[in-house]
Amino acid sequence: MASAKNLQAIRGMNDLLPADAARWAGFEALIRDVLTGYGYREIRTPIVEATELFCRSIGEVTDIVEKEMYTFADRNGDSLTLRPEGTASCVRACIEHGLLHNQQQRLWYAGPMFRHERPQKGRYRQFHQIGAEAFGMDGPDIDAEMICMTARFWQRLGLADVRLQLNSLGTPACRSAYRDKLVAHLRSGYELLDEDARRRLDSNPLRILDTKNPAMRELVDAAPVLADHLDDESARHFERLRALLDAAGVGYELNPRLVRGLDYYTKTVFEWVTDRLGAQGTVCAGGRYDGLVEQLGGRPVPGVGFAMGIERLLGLLEGRDDIAAATQPQVYVVMAGEAAEAAGLVLAERLRDALPQLRLQLNAGGGQIKNQMKRADKSGADWALVLGEQEAAQACVGLKSLRTDAAQETLAQGGIAAALAARLGL
Ligand code: HAM
Repeated sequence: MASAKNLQAIRGMNDLLPADAARWAGFEALIRDVLTGYGYREIRTPIVEATELFCRSIGEVTDIVEKEMYTFADRNGDSLTLRPEGTASCVRACIEHGLLHNQQQRLWYAGPMFRHERPQKGRYRQFHQIGAEAFGMDGPDIDAEMICMTARFWQRLGLADVRLQLNSLGTPACRSAYRDKLVAHLRSGYELLDEDARRRLDSNPLRILDTKNPAMRELVDAAPVLADHLDDESARHFERLRALLDAAGVGYELNPRLVRGLDYYTKTVFEWVTDRLGAQGTVCAGGRYDGLVEQLGGRPVPGVGFAMGIERLLGLLEGRDDIAAATQPQVYVVMAGEAAEAAGLVLAERLRDALPQLRLQLNAGGGQIKNQMKRADKSGADWALVLGEQEAAQACVGLKSLRTDAAQETLAQGGIAAALAARLGL
C-alpha cells in the first residue's frame, strides 16, 4: 500500500486553491447573472447516472462513449457512469419530472464532468462546465438568442479574442443521404485512411471530417460538404439563423467541417474558439438536438443548448483579478489579553448582526499585537479594530487603517458599526 505521504489528487483532476477560487466565484456569478437575465433557471442533477443514458444520447460510436467514460459496477452490479457532459442528464430529468409537456423550458446547470482523456493544458479528466438548454422551441429565433447570450458572456468578461464558428448538420434524413456520398468518397481513398477512420467508415463517417491526421487532410478537404446537401427545412432554418445573427451584429465564420463529438445534434451547431489556448481552443460549444428527447423515451420535443469549459475560460482570464469575487476580509480584529478577547468576540458578533454583508475576521490563537497586525495586513483587510485591556475596560475600540498612514482613532464600541458602514459603503 502506498504510504500516506504519496497521496495525491488523481491525474487530470485538479484542486482549486483559495487564490484561484475567488476568480472562479466571480466568473460563475457573472455568467449566472447573464443566464438569469435571459430567463434561464437552474437545474441540478446527480453526477452519477445509469451508463445507458450516455450510450443512448451521446452515441455508441463516439470517443466519449467508446473510450472516455468513467464507468463502474456499483455494489448491486448496476452499470453506472460519472457524467461526461450535462445535456443527457438534463433531458433525463426533464422527461422524468414532466417538465417538457406542453411547455417551454430554459434551464442552466454547472458542475464537474468526467472524461478519461489524455490530460494536457486545458484538457482534464475532471473539468467543469456551465451549460444551458432550451426545450420546446423549434425555430431559429431561440438558436440566435442563445448565441447572442454567449456573445454577451464574452463581452461582460472583457474577452475579445474568441471567434464563433457555425455549421448546420441538417436532419437525420438528409445527413444519411449525405453520409452515403461521404462514405463513397472516403472509400475512394481507402489506403489513406488511418485505423480510426477505417473503423468509423461505416459507424460514424462524419467524425472522420474532424481528423487531426495530416496524412488524411487532402482526402478530407476534397470530401463533399454537408451544407450543400441540406434539406429545404434545414437550409431555411440555417439561413434565418444567419440573418438573425447578422441583424444582432454577432459575427461568425461558416465552418462546413464542424461536426461535434456527440451524436445528438441536428441542424445548428456552433463553437466559440480561441487561438490563445493551443490545441484545446474550444471554450464553448453546442447546438440543436431535435431528436434527443424522443430518443431518451420522451414525446418529441425540440432542444438546443451549449456548454462552456470553465477551466479553459479561466485560462483565458489569467491575471484578471478584476473578475474575482470579493472574499478577503474587510476588517480584522486584533486583541491583547483575555478581557479584550472576550470583548472582541462580543463586538464581532454585534457587528455581524448590524452589518450582515461585512467580511470580518477575528484574530484567533493569540499572539503579540505586532504579530496580530502582521496577520491583519496579510489578510487583505483595509481596517483593523484594536482592542487592548484599556479599550476593553472603557468599552471603546481603536480603528486603524491598514492601507494608509492615517493615525489610529479611538471610538466608542457602540459607534463602530456606523463608522465601518460609512467607510465601507455598507
Ligand atoms: P462538448 O463540446 O463535449 O459539448 O463540451 C463543451 C465544452 O466543455 C468544450 O467546448 C470545452 O470547453 C469543455 N470541455 C470538454 N471536455 C473537456 C476536458 N476534457 N477538459 C476541459 N474542458 C473540456 C458538450 O458537452 C455538450 N453537452 C454541449 C451541449 C449542451 N450541446 C447542447 N447542449
